[in-house]
Amino acid sequence: MRKLLIAPSLLAADFGNLQRDVEMVNESEADWHHIDVMDGVFVPNISYGMPVVKAIQKSATKPLDVHLMIVNPDRYIEEFANLGASILTVHYEACTHLHRTLQAIKAHGMKAGVALNPHTNILLLEDTIKDIDIVLIMSVNPGFGGQSFIENTYAKVKALKALITKKNASTLIEIDGGVTTENAQQLVDSGADILVAGSFVFKSSNPTATIKALKG
Ligand code: DX5
Ligand code: ZN
Repeated sequence: MRKLLIAPSLLAADFGNLQRDVEMVNESEADWHHIDVMDGVFVPNISYGMPVVKAIQKSATKPLDVHLMIVNPDRYIEEFANLGASILTVHYEACTHLHRTLQAIKAHGMKAGVALNPHTNILLLEDTIKDIDIVLIMSVNPGFGGQSFIENTYAKVKALKALITKKNASTLIEIDGGVTTENAQQLVDSGADILVAGSFVFKSSNPTATIKALKG
């Protein structure tokens, strides 16, 4: 049995106390730091860019799980490798030549992730699944933290898990958006390996305890 990984999303952190919040994650039972980069084009919001990622990297002691919600992500692969990203996830919907993008991410020494919007069918990954280290299933429409979980996600995770098994791939499944202790167990039972949680962790009264609770 694989152990469930937890990746708190720093999008919900207090940016005035970013170092403190990164250190909280360092000292918690969390596994990765989830970093959401939005360009205001692929999604209707702008989050933060390279200088902030660099500041996070300075204090972070766990792998940086970078989720790019941007158009033409190929332009920045090298830059994120230099910033210390361990996992670089691009959106299926933003990549015209996904196979080439995945090879480029791996050539720069990072794990390659592909994110799917809620409307994107997992079968579109049938021909690339063996090249993908992580599939990130969006359980909300990307762009904002604090949205409600889309219930169809469970069925989608199960279908993806079946595809991974059928293709004998070692791809991990990550869930992002509206994750709480209410849906965590059902997500794990459906096949999830990694849970991202933003607001549920950072808006709670005791984020360290909330991470522990998610870990189960
Ligand atoms: C949304 C981002 C998420 C976001 C999750 O577009 O990809 O990582 O921070 O936030 P919550 O957990 O609040 O839905
Ligand atoms: Zn994310």
